[in-house]
This record gives sequence, C-alpha cells and structure tokens, in this order.
Amino acid sequence: MRWNVAIMGATGAVGNELLRILDQRGFPLKSLKLLASHRSAGKKLPFAGEQLPVEELTESSFEGVDLVLASAGGSLSKKFNPIAVKAGAVVVDNTSAFRMDPQVPLVIPEVNSADIKTHKGIIANPNCSTIIMNVPVWPLHKVHPVRRIVVSTYQAASGAGAAAMEELKQGASAILAGETFEPKVLPHPAAFNVFSHNSAVGPDGYNEEETKMVRETRKIFHCPEILVAATCVRVPVMRAHSESINLQFTDPVTEEQVREILAAAPGVKIVDDREGSYFPMPLDASDRDEVLVGRIRSDISQPDGCGIEMFVSGDQIRKGAALNAVQIAEML
Ligand code: A2P
Repeated sequence: MRWNVAIMGATGAVGNELLRILDQRGFPLKSLKLLASHRSAGKKLPFAGEQLPVEELTESSFEGVDLVLASAGGSLSKKFNPIAVKAGAVVVDNTSAFRMDPQVPLVIPEVNSADIKTHKGIIANPNCSTIIMNVPVWPLHKVHPVRRIVVSTYQAASGAGAAAMEELKQGASAILAGETFEPKVLPHPAAFNVFSHNSAVGPDGYNEEETKMVRETRKIFHCPEILVAATCVRVPVMRAHSESINLQFTDPVTEEQVREILAAAPGVKIVDDREGSYFPMPLDASDRDEVLVGRIRSDISQPDGCGIEMFVSGDQIRKGAALNAVQIAEML
C-alpha cells in the first residue's frame, strides 16, 4: 500500500526532520502534503530532489489523506486531529494533546508496538525525554523489573522548536560580541547558561516535562506502580538530549548483565570507553537513530546490588520525535 501523507507543521524543526526521514527510509508515499500556518503558505520545501509547496492548514486540508504526521503544537492537534480522523486519516501525533487519553495508544515501537493496533484514529508519540530514557530502560525492565527511576535531563534547544534553536545561535553570537541579548522564545538566555525546563511548574513543584516523564512511562510500560522522579533542565545544546538515569531494580543486577542486555537491545548503542573517557555526547547522538548509552556502573549507594547508573544521549528531533513517529507509521 502507498499512502497519501500530510505533515502538519512541516516548516518546524520536527516537520523538517519528518521530510528527511520519509525520504531516507523510502516511506511508501502516494502523495505528500505540507501544512503550516498562513505565514508559510506558498513557501517550498525540498523533498527527494523536488521542491514541494507548503499549504495553509485549514479544516479541509485532510480530504483524501490517509496519514497525518502532526507536529504543529498541542492546541492545533486538539482542533485538527479529530477533523483529520473524521476525514478518514490516521494521525500520529507528536504533541502532548492526546498522550494521556485512555483511548489513545502512546507508543515507542521498541517498547509497546502491540498497542498500535488498539488505535481509534489517533496514535500519540511520547515526549522526547520519555522516549530517550525508555529505549534503554525498557529492555532492562523486561528482564529485571525496575522499581524506581531517578532521572536528570540535559535538554537541547531543539525541544522548544526551530525558533529556540535559532535563538541559541543568535544569543551565543551576541554574547561573544559583547552585546546584550534578550531572549524571546525561551524564558532565559540559552547560550552559556543552564535553566530549569521552561514548562509550567505544578503545585507539587514538578514542571510539566517532569510530570510527563512519570505518567507517560507508566502508560507505555503498562506499569502503574513504577516510581519515577525527574528533574528536567535545558542546556546550551542544539539538538540532542542527554539524561543521567539511576535505576533501582527489584533484584540485584550486575553491570555485566546490563551491558549484555543493552548490547542486544533495539535502538541502543553502547558508548562506554572508560580508559579513553569517551561516553555519550549530544554531538555524537545528533543525526543518529540510536540512543547512545554509557557510564554504566553499579550504584555504590545501593549496597544490595539493585542499583545501576547510566548516562544517555539521543537525538531529540529524530528518535525523540520524527523517527519515532515514522516508525509508528511504518507499523501501520
Ligand atoms: P509556521 O512555520 O508557518 O509558523 P516548531 O515546533 O519548530 O516551532 O514548528 C512549529 C510548526 O507548527 C511550524 O511548522 C509552524 O508553521 C506550525 N504552526 C504554527 N502555528 C500554526 C498555525 N496556526 N497553523 C498551522 N501551522 C502552524
């Protein structure tokens, strides 16, 4: 079967990557429609050696469309996904709008691809930090159940979209030139700085990104009892997220057992050279499909042998968003 595909938010950071991945993976396309705001209507974007026109997203955009890859923000997904489903399309939604809806499967293909077939028109792509954490945590959890995850993120500007990436570049140039720089997209200067993730903080003190990592992990793993505590932070990196992950298993697990499981895990690449001090880095993870995993070591603060520490980097735009969405679409 060949698909009539529409990308909602084609001009954005994830939209652009969706175009690259559809081409690179030879996705079976019959047609490809690029949708964005009226500001972008008439622009052209390169795809497979051609220049495709961008159209304004409207309620009639989905006629004849089989598959929508939605990446234009939660409020637009809330409005347009039901319209697309009514028009007969399946939507793979990159936003958080439908992720916790019990009717909507939330899928990382390496973890819970079987959930895809329960869809009623919309399939949600998880939060990028959740995907990058769980590609390596799931294969461990399957063999040695995880009781508790403590994770700290080092998140790239790309998670806040193309405009935030541009702001990081401009901010760095301005600061190096000795000029003042007022950020407009992110709440604080991104260049030469580190700040708590720019999502709203709830009454429990956790920001929305942190809460997503907790709730989404439980849903994807079908494991409501797994304990997750997250601290999400932005760092001046362009496009790959890193995470320090501390795991507490229900049974003792050795470093060697972890290495053996991760060496065979889909979507994971071990980068763990202690002698050469070479470990996962966002520059190495950028533009790659795999989540890089290293610093694998027994947690010395858990003397019962049930604790493991690791450090991961994964391309936020690719596996954290566009690639995961296309992998879901391929499974359809
Ligand atoms: P546009 O470029 O026309 O503003 P990012 O996540 O990188 O910020 O990208 C957001 C995407 O969502 C862009 O493609 C953007 O298009 C699109 N978008 C934003 N607002 C609208 C809107 N009102 N209607 C359709 N697409 C929109």
